[in-house]
Amino acid sequence: MDIIIRSINVNDAADINEMRIQDGVRENTLGLISETIMKSENFLKNLDDNFHMLVAQVEEKVVGISGLSIMKNPRLRHSAIIGISVNKDYQGRGIGKKLMRSMLDLADNWLMLLRVELGVIVDNERAINLYKAFGFEIEGKKRYALIRDGEYVDEYIMARYNIPKQFK
Ligand SMILES: CC(C)(COP(=O)(O)OP(=O)(O)OC[C@H]1O[C@@H](n2cnc3c(N)ncnc32)[C@H](O)[C@@H]1OP(=O)(O)O)[C@@H](O)C(=O)NCCC(=O)NCCS
Repeated sequence: MDIIIRSINVNDAADINEMRIQDGVRENTLGLISETIMKSENFLKNLDDNFHMLVAQVEEKVVGISGLSIMKNPRLRHSAIIGISVNKDYQGRGIGKKLMRSMLDLADNWLMLLRVELGVIVDNERAINLYKAFGFEIEGKKRYALIRDGEYVDEYIMARYNIPKQFK
């Protein structure tokens, strides 16, 4: 399976919407079944320079997405929040790893961010394993952080620190 990692464009909105509302993705993200392709299009049209998005494409279809949002406050600008999702039908085939590797190369070597953080529901083992494999550590737990299928669920805050080699 050839996986192409590339920047996002507005024409990807339909594939992204399909992924966001899918069982197997939605419950571990902030997606809602009612989300529209239009919402994704508008989001993509209004991306600013602090928001970086990469997609994974297999044949003609976008099957994975990762976003990196740099904090806007000047004193937080060394930090960003990362998110990642892979279409249910393509999970467990290395796409998440490939997206994460590309996004962290951007964060480490081209933006030189010191801190990349994320939130993950405490029972999302697959995602937690992926993050640990890339050096993320659990910093703490937010109780009742988000709504999932009739419950308030807890979320770990995880982060990874990149001290530039030249300062070590
Ligand atoms: C979490 C997610 C992004 C991982 O992407 P993926 O393409 O499925 O994962 P990969 O195939 O690249 O595997 C990456 C690592 O995840 C872990 N992993 C993969 N499948 C797993 C499974 N069934 N159980 C536990 N860990 C698993 C492993 O550590 C794996 O590394 P390894 O192959 O070296 O052991 C993807 O499954 C997904 O989108 N899930 C739904 C949405 C979601 O949870 N997003 C994250 C919100 S915080």
